[in-house]
Amino acid sequence: MAASKSTTAKATKTTAKTKPVSKTVKKTESKKTNEKKRILFVASESTPFIATGGLAEVIGSLSVALAATDKFDVRVVIPLYSDIKKEYRDKFTYLGNFYVHLAWRNQYCGIFSYEKDGVIYYFIDNEFYFKRPGCYGYYDDGERFAFFSRSVLELMPFLNFYPDVMHCHDWQAALAAIYLKTNYCFREEYQYIRALFTIHNIEYQGQYSLDLLCDLFDIYGEYRYLVEYNNSINLMKGAIECCERFSTVSPRYAQEIKDPYYAHGLDPIIRNNEFKLCGILNGIDDVGYNCALDSHLFANFTSDDFSNKAICKSELQKMLNLPVKQDTPIISMVSRLVSHKGLDLVTNVIEELLQDDVQVVILGTGDAHFEGFFSGLAKKYPDKLSANIVFNSDLSRKIYSGSDIFLMPSKSEPCGLSQMIACRYGTIPVVRETGGLFDSIQPLHNGYTFTNYNAHDMLYVIRQAMSDYKNKTEWAKLMYRAATTDFSWSHSAKDYAALYLDMLK
Ligand code: GLC
Repeated sequence: MAASKSTTAKATKTTAKTKPVSKTVKKTESKKTNEKKRILFVASESTPFIATGGLAEVIGSLSVALAATDKFDVRVVIPLYSDIKKEYRDKFTYLGNFYVHLAWRNQYCGIFSYEKDGVIYYFIDNEFYFKRPGCYGYYDDGERFAFFSRSVLELMPFLNFYPDVMHCHDWQAALAAIYLKTNYCFREEYQYIRALFTIHNIEYQGQYSLDLLCDLFDIYGEYRYLVEYNNSINLMKGAIECCERFSTVSPRYAQEIKDPYYAHGLDPIIRNNEFKLCGILNGIDDVGYNCALDSHLFANFTSDDFSNKAICKSELQKMLNLPVKQDTPIISMVSRLVSHKGLDLVTNVIEELLQDDVQVVILGTGDAHFEGFFSGLAKKYPDKLSANIVFNSDLSRKIYSGSDIFLMPSKSEPCGLSQMIACRYGTIPVVRETGGLFDSIQPLHNGYTFTNYNAHDMLYVIRQAMSDYKNKTEWAKLMYRAATTDFSWSHSAKDYAALYLDMLK
């Protein structure tokens, strides 16, 4: 690697001043063989600092799992949003600042760092772009993440840290891969950095008007073909073209996105670049989601003794003003209330379902018409439906642990983490066979599945689960198998490790 060569050369020079040459050479050689590969994650969010969804959890837990293998020097870079809690901010170290050029712009970029669980995090500071509530949804998101991506490339000389693999996640980091292979490709230190691009959700591609190509994104004529797609700029397409490899967050989704049904228009690009695509199933933080230790639960339990799950259930019923009935199954959904999560199926048959002896608990925010639908229904069926139109992590854990069946009928689901979390708490998923749901839930082993995106197929399987629920002995075995399914990062971190090493061959 030239990147490591150049730093090694520098290290040799400095050491040579104080030590005899022969010793230095030996030291450098042994350092070289034991050297950890350098991985830089570029992402728009990461737990524990800032999270709006599954992406943050993956960045926060995969990075730690990779660092724990001791084979990688793992660092993560995200923007310094004002929503990052003060308890963390106060611990960050200010490393310095530089200016970042982007077309005619010249913007301040401060760098903060923080080390946690073997991973070094860097935070890109610019108050004009990131001192705003939330992470996304602004008119200038394109400019904000162009600045962020450009800052990541400028961060490298600032730190003298040139990664072996720059692992970019989702469209917000796509420009880092694009700049690496265009504007920066003539600078020697950058030439040996391999780029991996991971698609967490193909729905969000970073599409902009072509008018912004030079003026905003600083991409000039000869590179236009890389990012141009359907008469627009498409940053996800650009990253797929530029990276050495790209991946999705489950093997099934990697297959699905070759199909127009799932690809949101990008299927021709995916098919053309299929030779560099792979799918690796996400894991979850199995220490953070542990029913024996989770302090958010009304009571703790283990996969060997679920008896306290009954307390979690009755306390949840009390909290949500539902009748306390141990034998009535609780079906829960913790989800963004948007169409692709399968909400259309649910709204179609929920009143039919509510005729049965069942309680339904909904938690999440999203499209106004779904929020209104569930709030209205909760008024009509106060004893059977609880609609909680909020995002509340404490309540989500109480729901995961206190319910019996977890519904996730997504139309598409790149990976999905909730079905895995539900399993960890002995709550049995009912899922549609798509993406990571297909890869993580095996019918009757750790959950129930249905194939077609059809409301009555879903209702049929829910009723099968509710009927099986009455057989306490068999249900307990199912809970045990679900709770002991290995969703830790151990397998997937190995797959990423193998992918990185393969890219570096
Ligand atoms: C996105 C996907 C979800 C996945 C998560 C983490 O939010 O929609 O399926 O689990 O990213 O990769």
